[in-house]
Amino acid sequence: MRFLVVGAGYWGPNIVRNLLELPDVESVAVSDVDQARAEKLAKRFPRTTVAPQAPLAFADRYDAVCIVTPVTTHAHLATDALLAGSHVFIEKPMTRTSEEARQLISLADRLDRRLMVGHVFHYKPCVRKLVQIAHSGQLGEIRYLDSVRANLGVFRPDVNVMWDLAPHDLTIFEAIMGRSPKRVAATGACHVRHPVTPQETIVYLTLDYGDDCIGHVHVNWYSPMKSRLMMVAGDQKMAVYDDIHPTEPIRVYDHGTYEPEKDTPYYPTIRTGDISIPVIKENEEPLKVQLREFIASIREHRRPETDGNAGLRLIETLEAATKSLKGDGGFVEVG
Ligand SMILES: NC(=O)c1ccc[n+]([C@@H]2O[C@H](COP(=O)([O-])OP(=O)(O)OC[C@H]3O[C@@H](n4cnc5c(N)ncnc54)[C@H](O)[C@@H]3O)[C@@H](O)[C@H]2O)c1
Repeated sequence: MRFLVVGAGYWGPNIVRNLLELPDVESVAVSDVDQARAEKLAKRFPRTTVAPQAPLAFADRYDAVCIVTPVTTHAHLATDALLAGSHVFIEKPMTRTSEEARQLISLADRLDRRLMVGHVFHYKPCVRKLVQIAHSGQLGEIRYLDSVRANLGVFRPDVNVMWDLAPHDLTIFEAIMGRSPKRVAATGACHVRHPVTPQETIVYLTLDYGDDCIGHVHVNWYSPMKSRLMMVAGDQKMAVYDDIHPTEPIRVYDHGTYEPEKDTPYYPTIRTGDISIPVIKENEEPLKVQLREFIASIREHRRPETDGNAGLRLIETLEAATKSLKGDGGFVEVG
């Protein structure tokens, strides 16, 4: 397969490197509005060439195109690539609006092209393990999901920290819950001002899944330390997932409470049991697993696991959260 990668910035090189490690990939062309960047990237890798700027780049019909540019450009670049006859992979977040996402999904369906969204955490072995643990029922009924994703930077001028980082947490939450939240509330602040486009650098998101299950996501570009910590608490056990732990990212705590005696005024008593560390065998780079899935979906003529609809559901949540953020921070219905 001949691939075109549009966008040779921070993330583009990772896509190129992983594509070239897959046996189905014959060659990769790179296109960027900054021609020098595309040239620099092409020089780093074998079987990689420079393509002209989009939309001219699409004229040399590629089997598949990966869009790795700022989100504001995703919809029009993906539309041009689909119309040129290519299958399309778009980095997260899929588009700036749910309307754009719907249009892309229907265009891809009409042209019978695959459309995939880069929800890379969906393909991460430890996330798959966490989802498997939750789905096995050993945690019991999920009561809450809580996530912190904080770092100093990278500041983006085109989107706020929620559109940049929360897609990762929301992807994991959706895999665990099997559905999007019903309602979402968001508050945030901008502490590091971009001179032209100030964006929120810290956002707290609250998600209502119904049935007394809530989620919370704290995303932060202005943190002194890197944190990627998630808790999934059920009424039987609780799991903690630390994405930056070098060897043991998941721990399952057999902790909880005993029901209080019937008709007594006392609080439940605390129950602390064993703590187990599941083995996570696969250590393949999730980006490679993700791109292999894209190629398999093309070869097998089927929807990829994280298809346009998965991208749309995420955009609908971010859109509702944006409404809340720009308003009074109250709950807004999703979708
Ligand atoms: N999955 C992940 O973990 C992950 C990590 C980082 C970035 N991303 C995503 O990848 C995308 C790109 O992020 P980045 O960090 O590489 O951004 P970046 O700003 O570092 O690079 C973007 C590149 O796109 C080029 N570009 C801009 N508009 C263009 C256009 N119309 N046509 C062609 N090229 C254009 C820019 O010149 C730049 O080289 C974003 O959607 C981001 O959310 C995903």
